[in-house]
Amino acid sequence: MTESVMPTYGRLDIAFTRGEGVWLYDEQGEAYLDALSGIAVCNLGHCHPAVSSAIAEQAETLMHTSNIYHVPLQSQLATKLTELSEMSQAFFCNSGAEANETAIKIARKYGHSKGIDKPVIIVMDGSFHGRTMATLTATGNPKVHAGFEPLVPGFVRVPYNDIDALRMAISHWPEAVAVMLEPVQGEGGVRVPEADYLDEVRTLCTQRKLLMMLDEVQTGIGRTGQWFAYQHAENVLPDVLMLAKGLGNGMPIGACLVSGSATGVLEPGNHGSTFGGNPLACRAALAVLNTIETTNLLAHVTAMNQHITSAFEQALSNVDGVHVRSKGFMFGIELPIECIELVKQALAKKILINVTADKVIRLLPPLVMSADEANKMVSIVTDLVQTFMATHTVESVA
Ligand SMILES: Cc1ncc(COP(=O)(O)O)c(C=O)c1O
Repeated sequence: MTESVMPTYGRLDIAFTRGEGVWLYDEQGEAYLDALSGIAVCNLGHCHPAVSSAIAEQAETLMHTSNIYHVPLQSQLATKLTELSEMSQAFFCNSGAEANETAIKIARKYGHSKGIDKPVIIVMDGSFHGRTMATLTATGNPKVHAGFEPLVPGFVRVPYNDIDALRMAISHWPEAVAVMLEPVQGEGGVRVPEADYLDEVRTLCTQRKLLMMLDEVQTGIGRTGQWFAYQHAENVLPDVLMLAKGLGNGMPIGACLVSGSATGVLEPGNHGSTFGGNPLACRAALAVLNTIETTNLLAHVTAMNQHITSAFEQALSNVDGVHVRSKGFMFGIELPIECIELVKQALAKKILINVTADKVIRLLPPLVMSADEANKMVSIVTDLVQTFMATHTVESVA
């Protein structure tokens, strides 16, 4: 829109000036159904009154001091997050990439403490971990690497959802210190692993004394119907847990939590952030967690997941080659052909969707979406898919 902004994004030709619940309003006042939540950020919908008023009040009281001093709201937030997650301690930063950078530093220092000079972190094909040098290296997408070589050393990659491949890599790399993965791959195409995959990763990590580092930047804070996606599994507690996105509902805040052998690895002077965990961001995050709890939102997400998933499955059952995947309020509709153009077609129908991994329509609606709003989302997206598939043949595009 303006040439003074560095053109790092391929933006759609629209700007929004106001948001309320699942609705965004453009400069002309037209309403759009937001089925993306600012990419899994505005889990409570736009401008949730509890969050907005907490921010407004805090902005008039104290926004920032520094981590040179104690920050009581930061301690409160750490206590709340450790209670919800069963982790031990939290470090606060401002984004998902920074949460993951923190995890990578913990893994390396953990390795050094075991006498491993060149520690190796095992990462996954199809993953997304951020755009800083270390997190883009960890990311399993060659398009994200291109042009930024040399990449950061100390990462090896295995196929996702393949426990044998992970076992082999661990045996092959004595310098391995950690396994870093998403419990559901978001950018990778809403890829939901086998039910026992995380359990098996946990067992392998425990046996081989590797840190299990879960990137829940997208899946955390209720997105999958549990506070954290690993809580769907019975016996999984990660050693390192990375959060951001939904934690602040739009206020930038990230966190890296530790438990077990990852606790105490980072010592005074090892890591820091000027803004990380300031009173304003922590107050917003506390309001987010409190609202999810008091409105029983996790139960709503679980119930609505079933409603929305079966509505999509039913409506698309007669369209060849289309597969519906979901976990909580993460929905992926995989088409047999590339379908990026659907994003613009959806915009014309006044709904905001995303296409990832070229062929997967990704929906990440606000967790507060009602049944009526969900039915509207299903109906518009289904129409778009049916029309698209009726006018494209797999051969003609391939
Ligand atoms: C799983 C995951 N990790 C990390 C990131 C990076 O987060 P940020 O853009 O806040 O740095 C994202 C962003 O999409 C993500 O989905």
